[in-house]
Amino acid sequence: MLVTSRSYAEYEAMFDLKELPDSILDCCAGGSGFTAEAAARGVDAIAADPAYELETPELVDTVRRSLPAGSGIVDEHKGSFVWHWYGTPEQRDQHRIEAADRFLQDVMAAPERYVAAGLPELPFGDRRFELVLCSHLLFTWADKFDRAWHEAALRELIRVSNAEVRIFPLVLQGAGDQIPWLSEVLDALDGVTTEVRKVPYEFQAGANEMLVITRD
Ligand SMILES: C[S@@+](CC[C@H](N)C(=O)[O-])C[C@H]1O[C@@H](n2cnc3c(N)ncnc32)[C@H](O)[C@@H]1O
Repeated sequence: MLVTSRSYAEYEAMFDLKELPDSILDCCAGGSGFTAEAAARGVDAIAADPAYELETPELVDTVRRSLPAGSGIVDEHKGSFVWHWYGTPEQRDQHRIEAADRFLQDVMAAPERYVAAGLPELPFGDRRFELVLCSHLLFTWADKFDRAWHEAALRELIRVSNAEVRIFPLVLQGAGDQIPWLSEVLDALDGVTTEVRKVPYEFQAGANEMLVITRD
């Protein structure tokens, strides 16, 4: 799986973020610049990802290699992507390069913000974060992680959230196929309200919705 580096602006659009709450978990954060930027805005921001177990040179290499690899997926499925949000492939690359730089600087400057951990078990207390974000893991990689894993991962994301979990996108990577069991998995969750909400971001054609899970 790629350790990609989406930018703060991409997160802002994917999750339709208007105001940031006091504390945010980004799980799976990969090489994203979101946590660094949120922390710079005064948020208690934590990034979690199993990739943080890697030694620094290997992590740098993995994040840097994900940019051409990610572009390769886009090239393979050209007709499945739209460019109105990014403009051009070069502008998309620019987001990723700058976000990777921001991430790599922040990992060195504030390693305590970057926790090596993986779903479905996170080393955080119940209700630790006001908002929990998950970009491009759940549903995106449903060809690697099965439905039972998703159910456990959703419960864990909800457990560590005090108010809301937001997940984007709701389709498979590549051609953006639908997840046939998505609504059944959501119906099985207790103590929450779920909503599929439109966002001002689209890259995989038609993938312009996030899942918002609110604790009752
Ligand atoms: C496609 S990247 C997304 C990174 C970032 N959120 C972004 O949008 O650019 C997927 C990330 O999921 C991480 N990952 C893989 N298995 C995981 C797990 N069980 N729990 C949490 N993260 C995981 C990978 O290491 C990788 O960094």
